[in-house]
Amino acid sequence: MTITFEPFRDDFGAHVGGVDLREELAPEQFRQIYDGLVRHGLLIFRDQDLEPEQEIAFARRFNRVRIYVGNDKTKMKGHPEINLLGNATDENGEAIAFQNKVGIEWHTDGTGFPYPPVSTVLYCVAAPGTGGETLYASGKRAWDELPEARKQQLEPLKVRYSYEGLFKKLTSISDVTKTDLTEDEKSRTPDVVHPLVRTHSVTGHKSLWFTEAEMACFEGMTPEESEALGKKIVGHISKPDYVYAHAWRPGDLAIWDNRQMHHSTTPYTYENEVRLMHRISGEGDERPY
Ligand code: SIN
Repeated sequence: MTITFEPFRDDFGAHVGGVDLREELAPEQFRQIYDGLVRHGLLIFRDQDLEPEQEIAFARRFNRVRIYVGNDKTKMKGHPEINLLGNATDENGEAIAFQNKVGIEWHTDGTGFPYPPVSTVLYCVAAPGTGGETLYASGKRAWDELPEARKQQLEPLKVRYSYEGLFKKLTSISDVTKTDLTEDEKSRTPDVVHPLVRTHSVTGHKSLWFTEAEMACFEGMTPEESEALGKKIVGHISKPDYVYAHAWRPGDLAIWDNRQMHHSTTPYTYENEVRLMHRISGEGDERPY
């Protein structure tokens, strides 16, 4: 079967047809999908009916799969590579998934790690009728559309990121992650410094590349200056024109290229409906530059 890519916006995003992700991808199929990912930034595969092993096998084709430190309660039992997101509960009514009550936090995955993921896979198991969308925006477009003078100001900037700091914020807003990182986990996740403007290692394109919630500071700036600049950058990345909101259907699988894309969620505006997403993130083999 021929693999098809149908773009749904001018700046990023394509629906992919002609692939059943239950099957192992042949090298040529994988090459086409990888090229499509780099070209479109975000790929959506609809009507997939996957077992956890098949989701993990697909994610693993793009990079090593990362098992996150902490948050054990929101990892799938038997498959810790899969993080459960949403408001799903077990048979006793206990939350089993991480519910982002803050929502609306633009980020790109893995800024707090030395080797951030090439890609993240999100698979929809249950979706509410309204709300619970994932928002996407292109860091490449955000960069391309900056005035030249602003590019010159921003390009040299470096950001110090703290996974521990992010984890503290997450634990303060979630009912199921009320545990601190252990000393061992902290020692495995030291702060890292990455550029604000990232060069894509395949295309050479530049992107704004930033996670406000994980930022400790911009190197050489005070916390107040860092916060003010961080807000401006997020405001620019997430301008309404730049944003695509994906309304999920069970069986949708999205994969995005973290080297050029940012994402967020809409607020959870539903009460009596279930959202359950499987998220698998990776570990790349390059330090951003
Ligand atoms: C994420 O931020 O990785 C997940 C987004 C979502 O739950 O929609």
